[in-house]
Formats: sequence, structure tokens, C-alpha cells
Amino acid sequence: MDRIWQKAYDKARKLVEKMSITEKVNLTTGTGWGSGPCIGNTGSVPRLGIPSLCLQDGPNGVRFTDFITHFPSGLATGSTFNKELIYLRGKALGSEHKAKGVNVVLGPTVGPIGLKAAGGRNWESFGADPYLQGICGAATVEGIQDEGVIACVRHLIGNEQEHFRQVGEWSDEGGGWENLQSSISANIGDRAMHEIYLWPFADTIRAGAGSIMCSYNQVNNTYACENSYLLNYLLKEELGFQGFVVSDWGAQHTGVESSLAGLDMTMPGETFDNWLSGKSYWGPLLTRAVYNQTLPQSRLNDMAIRILAPFFAIEACNLLQENHHPSFSSWTFHTFGQEFPYQHYGPIMQQNWHVDARSAFSDEIALSVAKEAIVLLKNEGHNLPIAKSDGIRRVLIAGAGAGPDPKGYNCKDQRCVEGVLTSGWGSAAVNNPYVITPYEAIQEKAIEQGIVVDYTSDVWELDNVGELADYADMAIVVVGASSGEGYIEVDGNFGDRNNLTLWNNGDELICAIAERCRKTIVIVNSVGPVSLDKWIDKENVVAVLYSAPLGQFVGKAMAEVLFGEFNPSGKLPFTIAKKKSHYVPIISDLEDCENPQDNFDRDIYLDYRFFDKHTIKPLYEFGYGLSYTSFTLCDLKIIEINSPSEYLPYPEEYLPIYNTCEDDVCDPEDALFPHDEIRPVPGFIYPYLYNENIRSVEDDENFEYPKGYNPDQKTCPPLAGGGLGGNPALWDVLYEVSAEVKNDGKYKGGYVAQLYIEFPSTILLSPPKVLRGFDKVFIEPNESKRVKFEILHRDLSIWDTESQSWIIQTGTYNVYIASSSRRVELTGEIDIGC
Ligand code: BGC
Repeated sequence: MDRIWQKAYDKARKLVEKMSITEKVNLTTGTGWGSGPCIGNTGSVPRLGIPSLCLQDGPNGVRFTDFITHFPSGLATGSTFNKELIYLRGKALGSEHKAKGVNVVLGPTVGPIGLKAAGGRNWESFGADPYLQGICGAATVEGIQDEGVIACVRHLIGNEQEHFRQVGEWSDEGGGWENLQSSISANIGDRAMHEIYLWPFADTIRAGAGSIMCSYNQVNNTYACENSYLLNYLLKEELGFQGFVVSDWGAQHTGVESSLAGLDMTMPGETFDNWLSGKSYWGPLLTRAVYNQTLPQSRLNDMAIRILAPFFAIEACNLLQENHHPSFSSWTFHTFGQEFPYQHYGPIMQQNWHVDARSAFSDEIALSVAKEAIVLLKNEGHNLPIAKSDGIRRVLIAGAGAGPDPKGYNCKDQRCVEGVLTSGWGSAAVNNPYVITPYEAIQEKAIEQGIVVDYTSDVWELDNVGELADYADMAIVVVGASSGEGYIEVDGNFGDRNNLTLWNNGDELICAIAERCRKTIVIVNSVGPVSLDKWIDKENVVAVLYSAPLGQFVGKAMAEVLFGEFNPSGKLPFTIAKKKSHYVPIISDLEDCENPQDNFDRDIYLDYRFFDKHTIKPLYEFGYGLSYTSFTLCDLKIIEINSPSEYLPYPEEYLPIYNTCEDDVCDPEDALFPHDEIRPVPGFIYPYLYNENIRSVEDDENFEYPKGYNPDQKTCPPLAGGGLGGNPALWDVLYEVSAEVKNDGKYKGGYVAQLYIEFPSTILLSPPKVLRGFDKVFIEPNESKRVKFEILHRDLSIWDTESQSWIIQTGTYNVYIASSSRRVELTGEIDIGC
């Protein structure tokens, strides 16, 4: 892979050598909010056939357009624990973005990782565990990029809550936060940074991710997008990231400094909240900085090379050969409109071609993920699957989540929350081409079985609902909770949830129904954990299902599970606690603080690791999920493939750099705005100089670099580095583990075998168990299959802050094959001696 990038760099460098300063700057700077069809558009270099690059959200489908699939959310995808399916979802996502002419997909999301149960954007990423996020993130990157679109992995790093992510957004919210002076700082310790937060990014880099988005928040009190230690050192040097770093939209706070700190592209181009102002930290100012030698041209070359290289590294991308332009406008749904609809500027022209990006493949994958994501939490008396033969002749379907939202399926960015939940809200939300609601799909199946169906969308007049429940043999109540991105406030929830209770009177509704109906089934469709305590132990609540947002096929997936056409096989991608106090709270109160500090005190004890460490019994643990059938496990085998070494071998020296790019600064006259060729569009960001008095200065090699940054070419990577994602030896397979799983129930079913490891505490204490593998198999009744895992060097390593590297401690490692993080089925041991 590294050789692939080397070749890609050579090709990119040859192109960059031919570029003028303004052409290079044009690649680095967004043209401005609304100045182009996509959510982010770079300048182009027509002379060399380089188009304006189209960057578009996002992780669950193509945002701001039509005729696309609304895929299940990242969190739902994580709940499947099915690696092949996750890769295929990535492929389907990539192919739809490609069909619409997108160059860079703003996804997958692996940060937030899910530190805070109420965090607004947890539903975008794959679940509260770094290993799970890493495997899912990497498979998604591979799927997207195999279709010829660059993946942009987001958000680096520590964006674990929405509150205070950006100053303008929050100080104007009217929440009493006017004093906010800077974005919240995620204060992350070195070990947690490596073992938890960076871990999934490393996987995606190893998978070849072409770009990474730095987050809004500060990291250890420096903005993520100008944090040289984070970008230059951790990301580019230690993790060997070869592609480009793009700012989250408006997350850039300085010009020259952010460039020197490792930012390669700014989006959407303007300074935050100054949309349409045409004011950028880069664009003309970056050009000026190169001409007046505040910024070395070598850095600008590096930025341009990094932006182009992914298009050469990823085989399926044909940036220069293809005539592949976006066929949609993010700013209007009309077929025709002004050239710049957002600015109300320019001639009328075609804006949307309404290309149908969907396919039978997308449908199949979206539905499969939705079905496999559903988690069966409780099934007392085996009332599920529903069968008329069990005496179920009348069914009541209730709850706000069962039917359509009165405001429709496509409120802007999915901010409507009074009907079926297809996603959370914000930039990761996409338009539904249609929605199959739980009510429709359940009713259809019920009718097939001759079952009588009643339905109510009433969640407030509980006497009425209770009466309907009285007549029903079974009631199915669909409830939920939503959250999203901080720029949207819904019912007093500013992105993050204010609490973990059900929305739309869910608890009261369930209680009222369960009071009158002996067989009450609850489906919780939510963006994360919710409190279930008001009703979970009620005798009449006989079955409970959980699902993360499932996209357009939500109802169909639920109905197939309820009626047993599909046996549930999803696993919880987070822990549901018994007490609110066991979760990490959102910082939502500024008190007197103008520069809020978020100290990540949980350190490496994320989610189940915390509960295990303190022996706290959760309500439902990470990895939990029942099936209609039962499985037994036996015959654990652990085979050593390579003998483990305590320390990493020194990585190979860096590949040679052929720095042939000219580094002389030419005449600034060349960079003046070409008024005879271009008529400036309002708000559009150009790379040109406006002031003819700007002069280049004498070549000067003495630039002021940020503290700790040394621009000299290095020959040796750090011990932890040296390859994509880190030291290549980290990915050596040390052990192969396998076990036999037998389906000894009546139904065919999927089983997720989870491999957890308990580390010795020879040098450092570690959590009682950490996830280090999962394998999903589908097995017919009375048949068996082997589940297999590879334990990598990395999987047995801990981050040693002193040596700044990964080490493997000597001692005994317990290996658990488990059905959840608390339910161990088989135990083995690995002994690592001195
Ligand atoms: C979000 C990003 C998104 C960008 C563009 C930002 O507000 O944080 O995730 O890609 O907007 O829509």
C-alpha cells in the first residue's frame, strides 16, 4: 500500500510542478458556501484538467438530493457486527455518491466514539468501542473507495458532544451562553488518545482513507484544525496518513498557522458563520502568504500533492480522465435555477438532472443492514415471533414511531421528530425516497396471517389508547428518541439530548398499554441508549427490541423480525445503564467559564470497560442481543502464528522523497485577479491577489514554524509509525483463534461471536475485558460452523506513554469467546513470557 501511495505522490507531484501558486491555492480552499453544487467545492485547475472537487455528506447516503437510498445509520451498521455486510454498505454508499458525481464522501464517522450516551451525533458512528469503530470504519472506507470515491473520515478528534463545538453557533443560541469565548476543549490523555480515540482512525488510514476531517472542538486547548501535534505528528507522522486533512465546515481559526499545523484544505472556504462574505483565512490570503514568504511554498506544494494523491492511489478514481460532474445542486431541488441558487445570482441553467442513483444492490444492502441491526433485548415466554397459531388474532400498533410524521418524511435535515425515526438530524441526514413505516409493514404481514389490525398515532389521550389495547391480543408500541447536530435545536435539545427519556410521551404510553394488554411488545427506535426502567420489568411487557435509526426500510425490517421471517441477530453497540449517573454527562452549563474544558476523565474506560472495572451491573451490556434460536459453543482453539515480541521492531526508513517542485516565488503580478477573464461572483472565493502593491520578498528559508514543528525531512519514522496506520508490525497476526458454534434451536439464525481479551497488569492496569474480534455466522438448526479470529500484535498491545510506543506486556492473557461483553462462553489463555 505504501508503494501505491509513493506512486500516487509521484503522479500528483508531476501535476503540481506544472501549477502556478494560485492554481495550487485553488485546490486548498473551498469556493464558499453555496458557490458550487456541493456542500463543499474546491477551486479547479481547468488548464490541467482538474475539476472543482465535490465534497458531499455523507455517511448514510448522498445529502441534499433526490433519487438516492437512505441507508441505515452508522450506529445501526455497527449493531450488525457483520463485517462483509458493512463493506457492502460502504460499496453501495460509494456507488450512489459516484452516480451523483461526488468526488469525496464526507464519511464514515468514527468520532464521536460514543463517550457520552446523550451525545448528539453518536448515531452517525458505529458504537462505543474503538475496535468496533475501527473495523466498521475501515470496511466502510474500503467499500466507498472501491467505487472510485474518496472517503473522508470524520471528526478528528474528541467531538464527543455538540454543546460549544463552535463559538458563533452557541453564543447566538439564546441558551445563556453569550459569554462563550472559544470552542470546548476535549482534554484527552496520551493513553486514551491512542487506545481509544485515535484507534479507529488508524484502521481507516491503513484501509487507505484518502482524507480526514478535523473537528470543531479544541484538543487539549488547541483547535483541532490547527493542532500541529495532532495533525503533523500523530496523524501524519505516527499514523502515516498520506492524504489530505480538510477542516470541518468553519473549523479553521487561523491562516498561516493552520497550514503549518497540517491542515491541507479549508471548507467551505469562508471563516465560520460568515457565509457569503467571501472572507477566507486562505484563498487570496494564502497566496499572499506564499508571495510574502510567511508560508514556505514547499508547504503549499505538500498541501496540493496531498489533495491530488488519493485520486491516484485509489484505483477506481479517474479524476483526470472522467467527465464526471455533480448532477445535482445542494441548494435547490428544482430542475432549473440560477447558476448560484444560494446567492440568487447568475443565469438560469439546469441545476438538477435527478439521476437515479439507486439500484437493486442498494436496496438489498440497506434492507439487510436494517434487519441485522435490530437487537432483541427481551422475549419472555417466547411471544416473538408473532404467530396467529399462538392465539394472536387482534394486534394494536401504537406509538409515535410507528407511523408517518405529520410534517412528512423529509423535514430539512430530518429535524421532524413526531413520527417514524429514519435518522437523527443534521448533516448526516438524507432525504427519504420513501419510507416503509412500521405501521404499514406490520399491518401487511398481519393481514397475510388473517390478523385484525388496529392503529393509533395518539400518544396523549391515553384513556382512548388503553381502550384499544384492551381489545388487542398483542400491542406493538414503537417509541424512540432523537438527537443530531448542534446547529439545529429540536424541542430544547441543542444537538445533544437533554435527557435519556423516551420522546413523545413514550414511557406513559407504554405503561398505559401494558396496563391493559397482556402481550405488549416495545420497539425502541432511538439514536442511543434510553432509560427503560419505568416499564422494562412489567410482566405484560413481554418483548423488547432496540434499533438505531434504520433509514427508509425501518418498518419492513421491523416487521420481518417481528413475524420471524428474519431472526434477530443484532448486538447492542453500547451499554444501557441502570442509572443515569453511570453515563458521562454532557457539559451544557457554562457557569462562569468562557473557555469550557471537557476533561475526558473516563480515560481508557469507555462504556462497558467502565462498568466492568467498577463491577456495576448494567441493564443491558455492550454486545448483548438475543435470538429466536439458541447457540452453544465448544472446541476453542488458539494457535500461535508468530511469536509475540515485547517491543515493536524499528520501522523501515521513510521512502525517498523526490522533491522536484520548484520552490521559487515568482512575480506577484502573475497572481493578480484576472479581471479580463473572470467576472467575480458575489461571495465566491478566488485565489487571486487584489492588491497590486504586494511584492514578493527575497527567498528566505527562515520561517516561523509553530513550536515543536521541525520542517526538516526526516529519515526515520517514530517507533510507533512507519506505515499506514502506524508501525506495520502492529498488524502482524500473532494468534489464530477459532471455536465451534452450534445452532441447537428451531430457527435458522445469525450468531455474533465476540472475542474479548483480559490483559495482564504487569506494567499497567487495563480494563477487565476489551473487544478484539467478532465474527458473525448464519447457521441452520442443528448445524455448526466455526467462528475465526485473528489476534494481531496491536490487539495485545498497550500504549506506553514513557517510550511513546506500543508494548506487549509479559504475562497471561485471558481470551474470552462471548455472546456479549458479560456473557462468556469459552475461555482460553495466551502466555507471553520474557
Ligand atoms: C458537520 C460535518 C459536515 C459539514 C458539512 C458540519 O457542520 O460537522 O460533519 O460534513 O458540516 O455539511
